[in-house]
Amino acid sequence: MIAQDTSTPRDFFQRPLRDLRISVTDNCNFRCTYCMPASEKYTFLKKDEWLNFKEIQLLASLFVKAGVKKLRITGGEPLLRPNLSDLIKDLSELAIEDLSITTNGYLLKPHLIPLFQAGLKRLTVSLDSIHGDTFSTMSGGRYEVHRVLDNLEKAREIGFESIKVNCVVQRGVNDHQIEDLLKWCCSRGLIPRFIEYMDVGNKNQWMAAEVVPSSEILSRLSQHYNVVPMEENYFGEVASRYLLDDKWEIGFISSVSQPFCGSCTRARLSTDGKIYTCLFSGQGTEVKSLLRSKASPEDIFDFLTQLWKKRNDRYSEVRSTEGVSREKVEMYQIGG
Ligand code: GTP
Ligand code: 5AD
Ligand code: SF4
Ligand code: SF4
Repeated sequence: MIAQDTSTPRDFFQRPLRDLRISVTDNCNFRCTYCMPASEKYTFLKKDEWLNFKEIQLLASLFVKAGVKKLRITGGEPLLRPNLSDLIKDLSELAIEDLSITTNGYLLKPHLIPLFQAGLKRLTVSLDSIHGDTFSTMSGGRYEVHRVLDNLEKAREIGFESIKVNCVVQRGVNDHQIEDLLKWCCSRGLIPRFIEYMDVGNKNQWMAAEVVPSSEILSRLSQHYNVVPMEENYFGEVASRYLLDDKWEIGFISSVSQPFCGSCTRARLSTDGKIYTCLFSGQGTEVKSLLRSKASPEDIFDFLTQLWKKRNDRYSEVRSTEGVSREKVEMYQIGG
């Protein structure tokens, strides 16, 4: 076992490494229009291309040694990865402050108790509308919203804490239903977060006109609620939090209108063992072959910290000047 190293590497802009997002599959049962439009063809990684749990665990422990405090499991849809709770159990034993998962929630029911017992206490569920038609359209046309709603309620009953609900807001598609989602979530103790539609990947035909700036939603809500900003939960928190009428917490993730690259402390690991230092990277850095070589954990640790020190990504801050046409990794390959 490698001892904890207190000297956290800083990247080119002096940002520390604090979060690791681990994608455990690139496959998904949904075809969200803003992520994996159903009109496109997809080929997914083969099983022998995946990192196995032992490899993920080793990498995660080295990232923790390098300063990571928060781990998040993502996909594609992470619940499609067999035996996920075994990985959760191992990761929950690391010296971290937070372990969570981002899922579309559709397959959650049989997983809730095994995940909870394995040490997962928190989850985030993507849900763009509580209305059947809009939900079905945005998730690819084949799914029933009540299953996700039921699973969210079940997660609450089981004892998951601060459950968050991610809603990607797209103008003319679901922006008129924001308040319905907000009320449904907040009245059940869930925290809705409204995400500006982003130009991730190369498939979603993103148009700036479809982005609803968070400021617009906030001013709309201010007509009905007393809206008060809340403090950051932790350095570099992605969401800006607000309290409505002294009782309901909501969040905004405004990476288009108010980029937060300046405090971005996140690294991403893909299912096939590549590290991405930005959600909008064109290429990842292969680490799987190093893991499968004779390299020692110390060698891999050095490799990771050197990679972080070279990092100079700040895509959301330069989007408007550089344009959106560059080749980017797909969201389902690194889980957002
Ligand atoms: P907690 O604060 O721990 O609850 O998690 P989170 O908000 O970081 O995680 P989540 O997976 O729910 O992310 C919410 C949304 O923010 C997703 O749409 C992500 O793609 C987006 N997001 C997260 N990190 C970044 C980032 O570094 N850059 C950009 N542009 N978007 C991000
Ligand atoms: N813009 C904003 N958010 C997106 N997500 C997926 N694609 C996009 C996009 N183009 C969200 C999902 C999920 C999270 C990981 O990322 O809804 O909640
Ligand atoms: Fe939708 Fe998430 Fe699946 Fe993408 S990975 S299609 S955002 S559920
Ligand atoms: Fe971080 Fe890249 Fe997102 Fe900026 S655009 S916040 S650097 S992941």
